[in-house]
Amino acid sequence: MPTVPPVESRRPGQDIHRLRQAAESFGIDAARYDRTRPPYPDALVQRIVDGSPGPGLLDVGCGTGIAARQFQTAGCTVLGVEPDARMAEFARRTGVAVEVATIEAWDPAGRMFDAVVAGTAWHWVDPVAGAAKAAQVLRPGGLLAPFWHVFQLPPEVAEAFAAVYKRVAPDSPFGFSRPVRSALDGYEVLLAKAADGIRDAGGFRRPERWQFEWEKTYTRDEWLDQLPTTGALTQLAQDKLAEVLTGTGAAIDTMGGSFTMPYTTVAVTAVRADGP
Ligand SMILES: C[S@@+](CC[C@H](N)C(=O)[O-])C[C@H]1O[C@@H](n2cnc3c(N)ncnc32)[C@H](O)[C@@H]1O
Repeated sequence: MPTVPPVESRRPGQDIHRLRQAAESFGIDAARYDRTRPPYPDALVQRIVDGSPGPGLLDVGCGTGIAARQFQTAGCTVLGVEPDARMAEFARRTGVAVEVATIEAWDPAGRMFDAVVAGTAWHWVDPVAGAAKAAQVLRPGGLLAPFWHVFQLPPEVAEAFAAVYKRVAPDSPFGFSRPVRSALDGYEVLLAKAADGIRDAGGFRRPERWQFEWEKTYTRDEWLDQLPTTGALTQLAQDKLAEVLTGTGAAIDTMGGSFTMPYTTVAVTAVRADGP
């Protein structure tokens, strides 16, 4: 069964975070992104808040502020760091403070935080440099918690999407047809890279993995509204994107026009080592 986006570079040895055009392409339609991407499970947000020594939180790659607003609602004071000025501007309009930079290049100017999070963004970050920056800005006992939505498309829809994508974008660095047992298996490389990066950066206790299972039912139109926000599609020409949407939509039609998607939101967490 094809894996789902974002997975990994199709070119052996190429790290996905080096694909900078794709990494900073989400602002092409920030409003669509914010409207269609699902929020994160409340249980994850609360566990991060409970596991942090205070309310000061840095949201790496905050995008339009989807996670940032959830953490604000949970009582945190949030600063976002976001390299795409279009995403940053959207987040600011919703009440999130944002500085425009990659996390690797961002200057914390001596500021310290109780938690560093990243919602579906850490795979665009150099895993060692990102973790080292997190270690630099975390207070003792502070929590680093990058997390991702992992979703399992129905096989019919995944196959149809992968077939059209391969046809319209044969040279794309993204691949979706690697056989795996489950969507989470398809994320193993990405999750292991995050944990390895934390270990290699130093300054953290042993990384842990947290998982939260949930599901969401999509109509055809709802999924086709969200699909263009995928990193592999944001730079596709309009006619090619239309082909992807038509092919994917036809597969959803054969399923009766809607489907229920199992989601696992998975976090790789680590506590700043010199804490209590
Ligand atoms: C898939 S979006 C996730 C946005 C948001 N966190 C969410 O959960 O909806 C990934 C975000 O990471 C940002 N990004 C890419 N490379 C980054 C880097 N090196 N440092 C910080 N953010 C980065 C992108 O601009 C984009 O807004």
